[in-house]
Order: sequence, then structure tokens, then C-alpha cells
Amino acid sequence: MRILLTGGAGFIGRHLLAELLALGHQVRVLDSLRPDVHRGRTPSLPAELVRADVRDSEAVDGALRDVDAVCHLAAKVGLGVDVQDLPDYASSNDLGTAVLLAAMARAGVGRLVLASSMVVYGEGLGRCPAHAEVRPGPRIEASLAAGQFEPPCPVCGQALLPALVGEDAALDPRNAYAASKSAQEQLAASWARLTGGRVAAMRYHNVYGPGMPRDTPYAGVAAIFLSALRLGEAAQVFEDGGQRRDFVHVRDIAAATAAAVQAPVAAGTLRAYNVGSGTPRTVGEMAAALSRAVAGPAPRITGAYRLGDVRHVTADSTRLRTELGWRPTVDFADGIDELARVL
Ligand code: UD1
Repeated sequence: MRILLTGGAGFIGRHLLAELLALGHQVRVLDSLRPDVHRGRTPSLPAELVRADVRDSEAVDGALRDVDAVCHLAAKVGLGVDVQDLPDYASSNDLGTAVLLAAMARAGVGRLVLASSMVVYGEGLGRCPAHAEVRPGPRIEASLAAGQFEPPCPVCGQALLPALVGEDAALDPRNAYAASKSAQEQLAASWARLTGGRVAAMRYHNVYGPGMPRDTPYAGVAAIFLSALRLGEAAQVFEDGGQRRDFVHVRDIAAATAAAVQAPVAAGTLRAYNVGSGTPRTVGEMAAALSRAVAGPAPRITGAYRLGDVRHVTADSTRLRTELGWRPTVDFADGIDELARVL
């Protein structure tokens, strides 16, 4: 197929580009090379690069020429530093997606794979001993400041066990980035209804692997920990280190996203896929694994917290396995050893 890949110069985008090319697709990349990500460098890519912002309607019209499908990864990622980030999230991610969708309708391109995120579920799902599965409420700053990190059952206040959230759970975004990802999905669903198009929304877990951003506002926790360890310092683990994530390797993410180009999505609909390894780990475990891999100092549990962080983000990725035949292939221990070698 002929595919337009937005954000193809980014961390996940470059791995996806390699995967799409390996599968025999023809790929054109559209990327603005955001200065806060690329710092003025122009990467050399094994594909045509249209250097333009996805909000630039004219450039997007040109980039969509002769294209059968779009993989839309261009976005501002991360959590956001403060409320002043709201306009940039909304503009980069939501206006950008809206401009792209309108251009796809003009060009008659009917297939979209959208990079979404697990953060659309907010606190996800918890299991209460008395009330079965519940959706935890928003985190309260006073509780975090008092070192109470586990979200309680919204009905009885008992401690919850984290559970795996499925794709049909209601969206409940809790920060600017999460809100922008939910809005992207909703805009894409609306485009599908209006045009008969098909959308696969890939709700990525925490992605790590070679090429992940480091020393930028977009660095994920594994890169932050490695940067500290490289300086001979301990990884600074927020909260009590018991927050759970599913760390999934970027090559597995690329394989899932490439498979989704041909996902069995009904015309006029959006189908969401959670993308995780299936093995949740705590952030404390991730820190310990990296310390071991580089023979560095043991992690330091700081009790610090970020407002807007969710406590546990773990999803059930069965749908991706059954509908797209995808399986994660990179074992966590191998992925961490590789990261410690190359990042
Ligand atoms: C990450 C992604 C986000 C994606 C989401 C999907 C990044 C920057 N963000 O968000 O794009 O949508 O996964 O699940 O890749 N932490 C520490 N110490 C630090 C920094 C962070 O302990 O120095 C903790 C945080 O409190 C959090 C966890 O590590 O509990 C993960 O943080 P981070 O890597 O920023 O990712 P998410 O917020 O989960």
C-alpha cells in the first residue's frame, strides 16, 4: 500500500517506518521536525520526507497525493508541565488531526491508523473487595501530599487492586495530553461516520526502546532513569514506586501499528486496540532493572508526585492478539539490556 506516515521522524515513527518498508509498503513521511524534539537536526530517513506541520492544510493536501492509508503519529506527547501547555496540546494534536481528516476526505483516503494512548482511560479499572470492578475517581492532591498514593474505591473507600481495562471502557482523560488523545479519537470517529472511512485507534502503553527521547520534556521514565544512572546517580522514583505500567517495546509497537493498517474495521467506524505486553510492572521494578543492567546505584524512592499522573495504567490487549494476530516478541529483560547498551 501507499502510506502517509505523520510523525515519521519521531521515536515510534522511525521504528514504524522501518516496519512498513520491510512489509513492502511505499511510505511518505510528513513531519514538522518540532524544534523541542529534534533540536534543529534533520534526520536522514529511508523515505521521502515532507517537512511540514500537520496543521498546514495545503502541505497535507500535497502529502496525501496517491496515498491509500494514513498512519497518524504526529503529536505533542508527554504530560505537560503546567496549564500554559493546554493550547499547544489542543492545537498540535486536535487541530492537527482535524486538518488531516478534512484533507483525507478531500483526497478520498479512507483508512486511518491513529496513535492513541492508554491515558484515555484515566485511572482505568480497580477491583474492590466489596464492589467488584470500579472506576477510581480523580486523585486528590491532599492525599498525594500525605503519601496516600493508591486510589480508593469511589463507593466505600477501601483499597483497590488494579485490574486490566478493556477497550469498551468509557474514556476518562485526566490531563491535557490525555484529553487531546481522546479528542483525536472522537474526531476520527466522526470523520469515519461522515465519510465511511475506517479507523484503528492504537492505545499504546508505555513505549520504550532504542531511539527513545532523552533529556527532553518528552523523555519517558526509562530514559530519565538511564540519564541519571549514566551520571552515577540513583533513579528518582516518584510516589512509592508501586505505580504500575505496562512497558512495551517500540519494535512490538511498530509491528502492531503496521498490522493495523489492514485491521478488520467496519466502514464508518473506529475500532480501538490496547497495545501492551500483557505483563504490568511497577515503576520501582523498572528502575531496579535498569540499575542492575548498568551496575549502577539502587533506585531512590522519593515520595514526590506529579499532578496529572495516573496511579496504574494497565490494559487488556487481547483484542489485538485475536483480531490482528499480534504477539509481543521482545522480552522485558532483553529489552532493558538492549536499552542500557544503546541509549
Ligand atoms: C507515558 C507516555 C505517554 C503515553 C502513556 C501511555 C512519555 C513521556 N509519556 O505516560 O505519552 O501516552 O505513557 O500509558 O513517554 N516517574 C518517576 N520518576 C521520574 C519520571 C517519572 O518515578 O523521574 C514515574 C511517573 O510518576 C509515572 C511513571 O514513572 O508514574 C511513568 O511516567 P512517564 O514515563 O512520564 O509516562 P506516563 O505518564 O505513564
